[in-house]
Amino acid sequence: MRRSRQRGRLADAGSGAGALDRGAAVEGTRSFAIRTYGCQMNVHDSQKLANLLHHAGYAAATSEGEADLLIINTCSIREKAEHHLYSDLGGLKGWRAASPGRVLGVGGCVAQQVGDALLGRFPQLDFVFGTHNIRHVALMAAAAERGERSADTSETTSLDRFDLPARQPQTAESTPGRAFLTVMEGCDMFCSFCIVPRTRGREVSRPAADILGEARALVDRGVREVTLLGQTVNAYGRHDRRRGHSAAAGTLAFAALLAELDAISGLERIRYTSPHPSFFDDALVRAHGELESLCPHVHLPLQSGSNAVLAAMRRRYTREAFLELVEALRSARPDIALTSDLIVGFPGETDDDFQDTLELVERVRFVDHYSFKYSSRPGTAAAELAVTDAVPAEVAQDRLERLQGLQRRLTLAYHRRRVGECSAVLIEGPSRRGGSQLCGRDPYNRVVNLDGAGSPVAPGAIGPVEIVDATPHSLIGEWSSSALAS
Ligand code: 5AD
Ligand code: SF4
Repeated sequence: MRRSRQRGRLADAGSGAGALDRGAAVEGTRSFAIRTYGCQMNVHDSQKLANLLHHAGYAAATSEGEADLLIINTCSIREKAEHHLYSDLGGLKGWRAASPGRVLGVGGCVAQQVGDALLGRFPQLDFVFGTHNIRHVALMAAAAERGERSADTSETTSLDRFDLPARQPQTAESTPGRAFLTVMEGCDMFCSFCIVPRTRGREVSRPAADILGEARALVDRGVREVTLLGQTVNAYGRHDRRRGHSAAAGTLAFAALLAELDAISGLERIRYTSPHPSFFDDALVRAHGELESLCPHVHLPLQSGSNAVLAAMRRRYTREAFLELVEALRSARPDIALTSDLIVGFPGETDDDFQDTLELVERVRFVDHYSFKYSSRPGTAAAELAVTDAVPAEVAQDRLERLQGLQRRLTLAYHRRRVGECSAVLIEGPSRRGGSQLCGRDPYNRVVNLDGAGSPVAPGAIGPVEIVDATPHSLIGEWSSSALAS
C-alpha cells in the first residue's frame, strides 16, 4: 500500500515562500499533519484537507511529532489497506497522550464504511469524517479541541462537495508542475469485487466551468500538467446527458471537456485516471489523435483476460471488446502507452482463465500494470462467491508472481525500444538514485532519471531529454540539445 505524508516540507511550484517558512507553525498557531493511504483520489483529498485547514488558520507541521492535529486518510480497497488503520490507531495512542490538546481524526474510505463505530472502538480517536464530508474537517477538529467527539459519514449527491475554497499558496502540489483536478466522484458500476461504490457513493460530475476555472488558476501558479481525477473519470456527465440535463448541470461529454482544457494556453499536458473501458466513445478515442496536450498514455484497467471471470466481475466488456478498444486507440495514436490493473485469484478463476489473462496481457503489450490478489470486501457481490469458490492463497500467489514476471519482461522490452528517442521530460526533483540525479516523467508517464548537472530547467518545467539507457523500472536520459520529438 502506498502511503504518503503531507507536511510543510513539500515543494510547491509557483510559490516564492521557502518550504520551511511555510511549514513552521507560528507561535500559538495549531499545526496539522496528514497520513495518506491508497489511490490518487485519496492523495488529492489530502491536498484538499490541507487547503481547508490552511484556510481555517492551521499551519502544516514539520513532522507528526510536532503536530497538534493528525488526520489519517484511509483506504479500504483491499483488506490489508484497512488493517493499516487499525495498527496505526494502536500506535498513535502514545502520540495522542504525549501532549494535552492533541486531536486525532480519521477520514477516507474506511471512515465512510465503518462510521461512528470507530469512535466506540478507539477511545484515542476524536473525530471521523466520510468521503462526502471533507469540507467539515476544520469544524470537526475545532469541536474536538473543545472535547466533543463526533462522526459524520452522511452521504450526499449534492454538488456542494466540490465547492471548496481556492487553493492557498501554502497548499503544495505533491509534485512541482503537476496537479490533480477532480472532474467527477463516485461510481455506479458495482463491479462485483469492488467496495468503491459503497465508500465513494453515486457518480456526481462537477460543472465544466468550475473545472476549467480551476485549471486556469493552476496554470497561473505554474502548473504545466493536470491529471483529471474520477473513480470512472470518462463517465463524466453521463447521467446528466441521459436525463437531458447536461445544460442545467453545466457538464459536457468527456471528450468535449478535454478539448476545452486543451485550448488553455500554458497547460501543456493533460492526463486522466481511471477510465472504464466501457465509456470510451468515438470522440474520446479520436481525441487521442487530435488534442496536442492530451498525453499518449492511458491507464486502462482490464482486471482479467477471461470472459468468464469478466462476466463474474460484472465488468460489462469482453476480452474481444477490450482488444477492439486497444486497436482503436492505437489507430488514433500509434505510440500510445497503455497500463492496467489486474486481479488474480478472483473466486472461481481456473488455470485456463488465468492463461487467458497472461495471453491478453502479452497480446496488448501493456507498458506496465498493477496486479493484486483478490481480497474479499464486505457487502460486495463477490464476497459470497469467495465463501464457496475461493482460489487457494498459494495458487493466487503463484499466479501473481507469474503475471508480474511477464510484465517485467514486457516493461523492459518497451523501455529498450525507447532508447535513442528524444523526449519531453517534466522534471520532478531529486531522484531516488541519490547524488545529483534528477527524475521526471515523459509524456508516456514513464520515470526518467538523469544527471542534474547543467540542468536547463528547474523542477516543475519540461526539458528535452535523450533516452540513452533502459532499466526494468525506468529510463535513463541525458539532456538533449536537439529538437523534441513529442
Ligand atoms: N481485491 C483485489 N483488488 C481489487 N481492486 C479493487 N477491488 C479489489 C479487490 N477486492 C483493484 C482493481 C482496481 C484497483 C484500484 O484495485 O484492480 O482497478
Ligand atoms: Fe470499482 Fe468497478 Fe467502480 Fe472501478 S468501475 S471503482 S473497479 S466498481
